[in-house]
Amino acid sequence: MRLDTVRARSILDTRGRPTLETTLIAGELTATASVPSGKSTGSHEALELRDPDGSVAQALAHVTGEIAGALTSREFATPDELDATLIALDGTENKSRLGANAILSVSIATQRLFAQATGQPLWKAIALRANTPSRAPRLYVNVMNGGVHANFQLPFQEYILVVDGKTSDALPLAQEAFTKLGERLGAGVPMGDEGGYAPTFDTLEKPFELLSDLVSTLPGTSIAIDAAASELFQGGHYQLLGKSYTADELATVYEQLISRFPFHSIEDPFAEDAHTDFTELTARLGERVLIVGDDLTVTTPARIASARRAREINAVLIKPNQVGTVEEALQAVQATFAAGWEPIASHRSGETDDTFIADFAYGVGAHGIKAGGLGQKERLEKYERLLAIERETETV
Ligand code: PGA
Ligand code: ZN
Repeated sequence: MRLDTVRARSILDTRGRPTLETTLIAGELTATASVPSGKSTGSHEALELRDPDGSVAQALAHVTGEIAGALTSREFATPDELDATLIALDGTENKSRLGANAILSVSIATQRLFAQATGQPLWKAIALRANTPSRAPRLYVNVMNGGVHANFQLPFQEYILVVDGKTSDALPLAQEAFTKLGERLGAGVPMGDEGGYAPTFDTLEKPFELLSDLVSTLPGTSIAIDAAASELFQGGHYQLLGKSYTADELATVYEQLISRFPFHSIEDPFAEDAHTDFTELTARLGERVLIVGDDLTVTTPARIASARRAREINAVLIKPNQVGTVEEALQAVQATFAAGWEPIASHRSGETDDTFIADFAYGVGAHGIKAGGLGQKERLEKYERLLAIERETETV
């Protein structure tokens, strides 16, 4: 395939901040992709290139300048080849020269373009590239937002309802739960960044009491959290609701929570560099729940391999924009499966209407997908895309 045109523009994400949308044209084919943006970003993530004024002008200029120049001058047989060219062109460890946002917008649009060229749905093209069996991911619906996504009104960043099964069965259950929860919390409860409610409680347990009430009436559901503990870590301790905890004390909090409530997984229970604490918690609770790495592993095959050697976790969050290309995100999925662990595909807290992550989750056969709460259109679109994939696969 030879690209004729590479175009880009700045659009706004769900927080009203600028992000990139890129369009690739090759002959009759046109593909567009836009990229999300995190707020509780890990310090080991690939770099999102942002100008001092908050715009993405430099990243945009890299797409339409240097990247366009390199891509329109040659033929590409596969999306991997094109991704390899982007990685080499950038030439840094963390995509800091051209920007992971610039690179990923091109990488996702490329994946779409090649899928079109071969007449395949996007999820199928991803599945062939990943070489893993496809399946519907469990829905990780972030029903209550806390942490940096809601001014720390709740200490943990995400209170998630996990729903098993086919999307067409799971989504109505999640919607029922979301509505009931809204009624319990009452009119006027604010919303957080990820389209979930952002209530305030004075105990750690209260949100879980509410969630487990819902879970007890809905089959195939359970509870997950993203503690996003790097954001709670100050001066060697974790701060929750005005109280300070050592890593050991926090581990005991997790153990008590999972003993009392129907938990499925805990993401980022400790700060991103607290490797030994992860290993100890996984030894202690890993038989009962998934311990998920996010800031710890940042979708990077080498970091996943090192977490594997130290048995730090047993599941990995996969966010393509933490690493910057679809090819490397697929390698991260493969490294996760190779460790015998579960990959969970994830959006970011600043989202667009791009639904790539739904095709990615289904295509690679992820254990779950984090796509946010049901109170924001950009989150719902990911769930809707999973429904569309289910319809496509059932009529084949
Ligand atoms: P972020 O949060 O997109 O703001 O980084 C999501 C997460 O921590 O999983
Ligand atoms: Zn996280």
